[in-house]
Amino acid sequence: MKVLIVGSGGREHAIAVSVAKSAKVEKIYCAPGNAGIGQIAECVAIGAMEFDKLAAFAREKDIDFVIVGMDDPLVGGLVDELESAGIRTFGPRKNAAVLEGSKAFSKDLMKKYRIPTAAYENFDDPEAAAAYLKEKAKYPIVLKADGLALGKGVLICNTMEEALAGVDSIMRDKKFGSAGNRMVIEEFMTGREVSVLSFVDGKTIRIMTSAQDHKRAMDGDQGLNTGGMGTFSPSPFYTEEVDAFCKKYIYQATVDAMAAEGRPFKGVIFFGLMLTEDGPKVLEYNARFGDPEAQVVLPRMKNDIIEVMEACVDGRLDQIDLQFENNAAVCVVLASEGYPVSYEKGFAIQGLEKFENAEGYYCFHAGTRQTQDGIVTNGGRVLGITAKGSDLKEARANAYAATEWVRFENKYMRHDIGRAIDEA
Ligand code: AMP
Ligand code: GLY
Repeated sequence: MKVLIVGSGGREHAIAVSVAKSAKVEKIYCAPGNAGIGQIAECVAIGAMEFDKLAAFAREKDIDFVIVGMDDPLVGGLVDELESAGIRTFGPRKNAAVLEGSKAFSKDLMKKYRIPTAAYENFDDPEAAAAYLKEKAKYPIVLKADGLALGKGVLICNTMEEALAGVDSIMRDKKFGSAGNRMVIEEFMTGREVSVLSFVDGKTIRIMTSAQDHKRAMDGDQGLNTGGMGTFSPSPFYTEEVDAFCKKYIYQATVDAMAAEGRPFKGVIFFGLMLTEDGPKVLEYNARFGDPEAQVVLPRMKNDIIEVMEACVDGRLDQIDLQFENNAAVCVVLASEGYPVSYEKGFAIQGLEKFENAEGYYCFHAGTRQTQDGIVTNGGRVLGITAKGSDLKEARANAYAATEWVRFENKYMRHDIGRAIDEA
């Protein structure tokens, strides 16, 4: 098969590494890709939102299967576009990707189908939102821009003043653009967060192993929210009891709800869960692999990823027995100093060759670029260093050791990825 992957981050590199292991695959393209992906795939300079060009490229190269990794093209309808051009594509159609693309939609879905989540109200008028915050809200409270906002559209507000300012920035100043045309105001919950990824074929769901992200920029969960500074898998807090609860009330219920709404979901559903005192609740849905969750989940997957993805597209996921290695993985993101606000790019990266024959170690590229003089930094998140181990502690020690193999100017990382393991 010839496979085209759409995206350019660490997640797409992790997908590409899994795809490259598939016995069914002879050639991988990636649009637009990055320097790391370019070592195992042919990168093509087409942006993920250039739907016409992607479809034309796929037809021209006789691509058998497209995998869309990123949220923007999924929510924008790339899968529909490719399918109507006759190209088999893994990922939800536009009417299903709305599960991630509109938080108001996903909250209403959960309410209608009694899927556990925080209490909330939706607003499309800033006056009404302000009135609610003055008259009815309990603090702290959570404000969420309805649409995609690079993972930054969530504000946790401790006071009414903060929340009113938040409404202004989301709905009036449009800090997150049209994502702020509507807004969700929801109850603040406390508990541990767990990410659970799953494959879905429209009716059947298969859960992958659990993971945990670290969203804040600095040690001790301080600093600004980022795309994710590191992950570990499995989460020791995702117990059998939690799993049983989610299987009963959340996973299949979500898939059935989408089907009942005439929006059958095929692809990856990423459940962002919070383990509250009242049981697990859904914080958010994503319609794709997590980044950097994919970087710890996929290296542990035993199945041929193409077989699983084809089963999703064909609606025969019930025949797939999804299997994960009985070990652990930790990913530490190497970022550019200053991320997520402002940072310099273009610094040479040294030491990448150390990963070439290191079994159980991975260097996933996120923001890198190939130049004539070698590979240079090209983003806020630069690399994701993943290592496996027989347990989480060993995986963490291995991953941190491997972070030292790579050097570039302004290299920045958190030093406490997986510290929660010690509390388990
Ligand atoms: P989201 O993009 O919806 O995952 O939100 C980003 C982060 O905000 C989550 O990972 C949580 O840490 C936090 N968050 C979102 N919703 C809530 C909530 N209702 N209560 C407490 N924290 C929340
Ligand atoms: N790591 C969180 C996300 O991919 O949304």
